[in-house]
Amino acid sequence: MTQQHQARFITFEGIDGAGKSTHIGFVSDYLRQRGVNLVSSREPGGTQLGEKLRELLLHEKMHLETEALLMFASRREHIAQVIAPALELGEWVISDRFSDASFAYQGGGRGLDISKMEALEAWVHPHLQPDLTFLFDVPLAVARARLDATRALDKFEQEQADFFAATRNEYLRRAAQFPARFRIIDSTQSIADIQVQLAQLLDDLLEKSLVTR
Ligand SMILES: Nc1ncnc2c1ncn2[C@@H]1O[C@H](COP(=O)(O)OP(=O)(O)OP(=O)(O)O)[C@@H](O)[C@H]1O
Ligand SMILES: [Mg+2]
Repeated sequence: MTQQHQARFITFEGIDGAGKSTHIGFVSDYLRQRGVNLVSSREPGGTQLGEKLRELLLHEKMHLETEALLMFASRREHIAQVIAPALELGEWVISDRFSDASFAYQGGGRGLDISKMEALEAWVHPHLQPDLTFLFDVPLAVARARLDATRALDKFEQEQADFFAATRNEYLRRAAQFPARFRIIDSTQSIADIQVQLAQLLDDLLEKSLVTR
């Protein structure tokens, strides 16, 4: 008889500069050290085609609905090629952004009707949702100050404060709608304090995913 962890799908969400990439490395290492086989990926992107779509999405001007459709097109490919096969093999999947980001950015930030996003979500992944979503929540000014210190800004990162306020609000609305899978992380805390919190949440997930075969 052996004990194994059942596959889990974890997503990282939050506005630009909230700390997603910073904590993905920590979470990946933490899980791998505890015997989890893990695939780490990102959206838009995660596949060869998805990375090409990412280039277009982050740098080309386009109609709002084109943007939403391309986000979900990239996601469809990501699920088909990466997420679903890994979960079927019993591997864990970590994704830097997933559909909550479309609700937040194209819905909240850009103002596309949420019902259109819900229709796309129901089309592209009717039976798949993350088991756990970390929402790194931070006031705009803090995120902006962190971003400015790093690199050249892409199309989304160049948006104004009201865009990010609406994006953050939609993230918080989604978190309130799906409290069972969302964990809101106060990203104004130090990186070390956030890691302590993440470790506790991961320990809980690891314990609940154990099965005896
Ligand atoms: N809790 C924190 N305290 C101080 N600095 C932080 C914290 N979290 C992240 N940072 C710093 O803020 C910057 C942005 O963080 P990061 O790249 O992880 O954000 P992100 O959510 O991945 O952003 P993007 O959506 O643009 O990819 C980095 O320089 C990172 O080191
Ligand atoms: Mg990042």
